[in-house]
Amino acid sequence: MSPYRLTRILPLDATGADLRTDVLQGLGRDPKSLPPKWFYDARGSELFEEITRLPEYYPTRAEREILLARAGQIAAATGARTLVELGSGSSEKTRILLDTLPDLHSYLPVDVSESALTGAAEALLAERPELNVHALIADFTRGLALPGTPGPRLVAFLGGTLGNLLPDERAVFLKSVRSLLQPGDALLLGTDLVKDQGTLVAAYDDAAGVTAAFDKNVLSVLNRELDADFDPDDFSHVARWDPAHEWIEMRLRARRALTVKVRELDLVVTFEAGEELRTEVSAKFREEGIRNELAAAAMELSHWWTDDTGRFALSLSTPA
Ligand code: AVJ
Repeated sequence: MSPYRLTRILPLDATGADLRTDVLQGLGRDPKSLPPKWFYDARGSELFEEITRLPEYYPTRAEREILLARAGQIAAATGARTLVELGSGSSEKTRILLDTLPDLHSYLPVDVSESALTGAAEALLAERPELNVHALIADFTRGLALPGTPGPRLVAFLGGTLGNLLPDERAVFLKSVRSLLQPGDALLLGTDLVKDQGTLVAAYDDAAGVTAAFDKNVLSVLNRELDADFDPDDFSHVARWDPAHEWIEMRLRARRALTVKVRELDLVVTFEAGEELRTEVSAKFREEGIRNELAAAAMELSHWWTDDTGRFALSLSTPA
């Protein structure tokens, strides 16, 4: 068995402290909201994997199609020797890149989930024993120091997860990504694109109800982690397209007036009948907007590739 290195950047209790702060702030404000990162406990991660296989949820398949078509060009354009992947999760789509970069020396997956990282690293090393895998348990939205591995470095941020950040959070995040890049390095970014409302809403409100279960899973996370007493059946899943912001919002709507206790926080939260808790923003992009956001973070878009039907884009950028 090959060794891999695992470095913990987050303190062991960081997740608990962050969850408390996010819940206190998010349920205390009007309108109520929670950051989407709290969906992803073991059950939530499983439900997300199930979402990626739904007929309505096109982004994962579209991104895989682009990666398969363009991996050779990505390899030629970057000559990457180190691949850094932010929010790597199961590293499933990354295999396509790992198998195509001829000079790859090191793979640095970065994720908040230790179980996802160790699982992915072990599976990968079974196939690629010569690869240096250095997994980092870290919150990639908070700035990152990377180990000294050989360049050029390719930083990949796939899946459209950039869209889960609000515009000002994206600006901060892209600047911190930029700080990881030296001349000759590159950013590979996956972004979902603006398209007709019907396609978008169906992708976030599937007929089988998997996305509804995923949305409500955040309530189970609060019940378990903070000793709250949410009944998921008291809420309906709502997916709405906001044409002004060009983003999808997922919300949980209270079916009746409710009082919920969050015992670990000594918090009592009331919901009016019909009141909505926003659980996710998933922004959709256009080429021009991405080019501008990258430029504002001192990066220059060099390649823009979409799938056959123009639903999703993969872009490559370099330090400006
Ligand atoms: C893949 C994390 C970006 O916004 O599409 C899927 C997660 N939310 N269905 C997305 C998600 C609802 C997602 N990300």
